[in-house]
Amino acid sequence: MKVKGFLKDVGGASRVTKARLSAFENASPIPVKEDPIGNVAREWHPGKLELVVQDIYPVSPTAKTVRFVRADGKQLPPFYAGQFISLEFNVNGEIVSRPYSLSSAPYEARQENGYVEITVRKSKGDGFIADYVNNELKVGDHLLGNVGLGQFYYEPLRDAKRVMALAGGVGITPFASMAKEIAHGTLDMDLTILYGSVSSDDIILKDQLAALTCDRVKVVHVLSGDEPNWTGERGFLSAELIEKYTEGDTSYFICGPQVMYKFLRGEIQKLNVPQRRVRFEVFGQAKDITTFPGYPLEKRDEVYTVTVRRGTHEDRIPAKATESLVVALERANIRIDTACRSGECGFCRTKVLAGDYYVCPENDGRRGADKDFNYVHACAAYPLSDMTIKIPIE
Ligand code: FES
Repeated sequence: MKVKGFLKDVGGASRVTKARLSAFENASPIPVKEDPIGNVAREWHPGKLELVVQDIYPVSPTAKTVRFVRADGKQLPPFYAGQFISLEFNVNGEIVSRPYSLSSAPYEARQENGYVEITVRKSKGDGFIADYVNNELKVGDHLLGNVGLGQFYYEPLRDAKRVMALAGGVGITPFASMAKEIAHGTLDMDLTILYGSVSSDDIILKDQLAALTCDRVKVVHVLSGDEPNWTGERGFLSAELIEKYTEGDTSYFICGPQVMYKFLRGEIQKLNVPQRRVRFEVFGQAKDITTFPGYPLEKRDEVYTVTVRRGTHEDRIPAKATESLVVALERANIRIDTACRSGECGFCRTKVLAGDYYVCPENDGRRGADKDFNYVHACAAYPLSDMTIKIPIE
């Protein structure tokens, strides 16, 4: 039986070989110019696009929304509500990239004259790009942007149909996008947003959220500050409050400032929610790396020399022990591809040839093999000695 099957296989293979050879012989000598599958892929995932600022308008006393369209007038690529855009800013000749969750909905990009929007709050003295967007960016400015990145979106095969969004500050933006898409009828899920702010003046997109409230979208504002006339919920997004608004099988999506993540991990744990029902948006670049477990505090004031190899080119740059390799590279005007700046996407994957480093544990999105072969995500790695690294040529 086995011999018979083997001979049949050999016979079949030789027939296929003959057919292929004859197809080659009879093929047209004119090279194929069209690449229809490649064209579709490029249309849907075009990478960095040139965008133009079409409008800038306030959405709270402390935040502005910026609207972008494509510079070439073509349609924007599709994305999921909850995903982010990576934008490149040229600030005084220094190219710096930042990720921003899209606050506009996917359907607004799909329509004729489609657009995408981000919403950015003024910094509290710790974010020069946030201040640049709020104070200096103007209508007509051109930027490069990569639309539709990240994993923070509703996936019906994975998530419960009922989603509770736990948002703090500007972390409301991905949920604003989801709420718009639901209200438009093109996203089939139920969304309850528990939105924590310090004061009512801090609430971002308040009017827009109120206009989206419907039988599938509910918004509950929670103030932690002392505001005497406030009649809504007070305090923090505690386990009791989350439980009060939870109905049945629910997925919890969390986006907000880094301090909120730590607090909410504890509150969610009290409710015994299964891990698969909890999703955190990426953590963002660590505000103060010295506060993370295992960071060697005795190195905090050191400045090291990092030798950067790109092809045959080599540069030596200074790098502070408290700043990521990406920040050191950008400061030295060396281009490295970035998107999430949270250790998740791998765009800034870098080979370490020599030297010691610390990786932020909240942002260590490396694969096991990358750890074994001494690769880091440069946005989440901090030098602890002089180093030699090899980065891809952009
Ligand atoms: S930019 Fe995404 S991992 Fe570094």
